[in-house]
Amino acid sequence: MTAPTAPLAGKRIVSGIQPTGQLHLGNWLGAIRNWVRMQDALGPDDQAFFFIADLHAITLAQDPAELRCSTREIAAALMAAGIDPARSVLFNQAQVPEHAELAWVLSCTARMGWLNRMTQFKEKSGKDREGASVGLFTYPVLQAADVLVYKATHVPVGEDQKQHLELARDIAIKFNTDHGVELLIPPDPIIPPEAPRIRSLRDGTAKMSKSDPSDQSRINLTDTADAIRQKIRRAKTDPEPLPESAEGLAGRPEAQNLVQIFAALTGRSVDSICTEFAGQGFARFKPALADLLVASLEPISARLRALLAEPQAIDAALATGAARARQLAAQTVAQVHEAVGFLKP
Ligand code: TYM
Repeated sequence: MTAPTAPLAGKRIVSGIQPTGQLHLGNWLGAIRNWVRMQDALGPDDQAFFFIADLHAITLAQDPAELRCSTREIAAALMAAGIDPARSVLFNQAQVPEHAELAWVLSCTARMGWLNRMTQFKEKSGKDREGASVGLFTYPVLQAADVLVYKATHVPVGEDQKQHLELARDIAIKFNTDHGVELLIPPDPIIPPEAPRIRSLRDGTAKMSKSDPSDQSRINLTDTADAIRQKIRRAKTDPEPLPESAEGLAGRPEAQNLVQIFAALTGRSVDSICTEFAGQGFARFKPALADLLVASLEPISARLRALLAEPQAIDAALATGAARARQLAAQTVAQVHEAVGFLKP
């Protein structure tokens, strides 16, 4: 039996993002802004690992040149948003083979019934379940490996990833029980209450997503000021004026989304935004929201443009991050191999 691992001295923050398009407002408010805040609050015993989930990206067909390009762009966007490779370990998943190695072992721990309940597989496979890749089905097991391989304690994500994180907890607990060890740590999801799920600008019942075919549905971190203003002007709303309090937004998903974005950007409550704009139409509210968005995103896109001018520097930062990540990941994989009973060389 493997000896229990020593309890962690500090926090281990781990999270990832797929390189399947551009970073958008939902990624930023739902996850990345929280990554940066958590990085900036790291104590001396804490560590943060942020990665670009290129292994996850290939669960759906990708063009190789585009995938390479998006991986670099997302890395640059994370740095532009405030992730500092000197303070956080920043890398792309494929450069750390221990993720895939642990995922195999954990796929022998996870149960078919657990994966059958995953809503994201149902959404992404749609009507063509038989034609979906096996990787798309086992996607959440790789996601579990991503966090368990670093013994993450905190995983900052948007609300849409909650189910995957619950699965990661179940896998960690079952692995420990099956093998009589206290090795893998069930991590806590950290979901920002002010922006758990940002919705599409075209449909307040759908989440803002990189994979939405309509670019008008999302604000990209790279959008120009003009594009942002135009997208907000065209954002779907209803003919009613803004209500006096948050309750008045019930049953008005598009209006609720815009007010929530305003609140998340200003750090104010939805109620206080309603009080400020009560009785006014969207013709007044939308320009104020667009101004706020432009002011919040403009510094990020300016930094992003500068970073993208030096692609070798991005690649070098990712290679350094991967080497640092491997040091820790290799230790966990060795412990897991021992617990399972693999013969060592
Ligand atoms: P991804 O690439 O879809 O999104 C990256 C992060 O952004 C959050 N997010 C949102 N938050 C609020 N509103 C939205 N509209 C919105 N859209 C996206 C996501 O919740 C996520 O936190 N499977 C993950 C990537 C991943 C991962 C991991 C995450 C792979 N391994 C391990 C955490 C830990 C994904 O596809 O995220």
